[in-house]
Amino acid sequence: MSCENTRPCPCTYACPRHGKCCECVAHHHDHDEGVPACFFSTEAEATYDRSIEALCRDRGLIPARRQECGATKESAAKTVFITGGSTGIGAACVRKFAGEGWNVAFMDINADDGAALAEELGALFVEGSTRSRADLDRAVSAALRQFGGLDCVIANAGIHRCNTVLDIDEEELDLMIDTNIKGTVHTLRATVPFLLRRGGGSVVINASDQCYVGKANSFAYGLTKGALGQITRSMAIDLGPKGIRVNAVCAGTIRTPLTETLFQRFADITHGGDADAYWKAEAALYPLGRVGEAPEVAELAYFLASDAASFMTGGLYLVDGGLTAG
Ligand SMILES: NC(=O)c1ccc[n+]([C@@H]2O[C@H](COP(=O)([O-])OP(=O)(O)OC[C@H]3O[C@@H](n4cnc5c(N)ncnc54)[C@H](O)[C@@H]3O)[C@@H](O)[C@H]2O)c1
Repeated sequence: MSCENTRPCPCTYACPRHGKCCECVAHHHDHDEGVPACFFSTEAEATYDRSIEALCRDRGLIPARRQECGATKESAAKTVFITGGSTGIGAACVRKFAGEGWNVAFMDINADDGAALAEELGALFVEGSTRSRADLDRAVSAALRQFGGLDCVIANAGIHRCNTVLDIDEEELDLMIDTNIKGTVHTLRATVPFLLRRGGGSVVINASDQCYVGKANSFAYGLTKGALGQITRSMAIDLGPKGIRVNAVCAGTIRTPLTETLFQRFADITHGGDADAYWKAEAALYPLGRVGEAPEVAELAYFLASDAASFMTGGLYLVDGGLTAG
């Protein structure tokens, strides 16, 4: 490839593979954004980056210099993209990051709660499903337009259905896999390229204590959450050299709309429909004698996302009141 760069190149890096500056390899220069030259350590990666660049240009987003990108908010604050942020743990993450001064963009299928939360906190909300790549592209584009880039992703959206291997039907199996596994993968593929464009960042995946233990009537949920644990590890290995940390939070039972609904179903099976009795029995399983609250998970997610966790990647971190200790 001949070099079309006629400007003197201030690059102090040399691509270890090509022995020349990154612009000569990819006709792309981004020193102001701090993208290291080793980003282009292979031709495949250079090709990959050119495709990201083309994608950005198609959408009129994030050209080589940040100030050309049309961002409406130029700010030193970091930007986080959160899925499933309208209620529960996702909403607690939205509150935590906003409270710490981050720009927060979040998407959810629940428009009413999402719009209200966004208005309260001055965050950006986009209605959409992580099962739809088009919805994710739309939400990510809106975040990029408003904030100019992404530094962190919280892949949180997920669902639970009550089933065993014997009674689950194929439709429900597909729903669980599409939402919890593929929805997370779609989220990561839609966002991580923009962390790379920043030269690094962090990803936190909301997995579950079911990466560590199995639970009754939770067959498909455990299956999908186990997969998220493995996604965390493999992504950490692939993306660590590019400055991206990937970790998972593994929560025990947390009181949220998800568990309120689920535990009524479990109570119907084991406690004659008495949900209060089921909650009490659940709390008694925990050494701390109670279930958790969503902000307690958001604290861990925020810590893992922040620079305070700068040497932590590829880890699955429990926030489970000691449930799995015994
Ligand atoms: N509550 C718990 O005990 C617990 C424990 C461990 C892990 N988790 C995980 O935490 C995450 C959040 O759960 P929660 O308990 O806060 O539940 P929740 O139902 O309160 O919140 C989930 C949010 O995700 C949204 N959502 C669902 N499907 C979506 C989709 N396809 N696209 C976009 N948004 C979608 C929902 O509308 C909701 O706002 C889930 O991944 C869940 O598996 C929960």
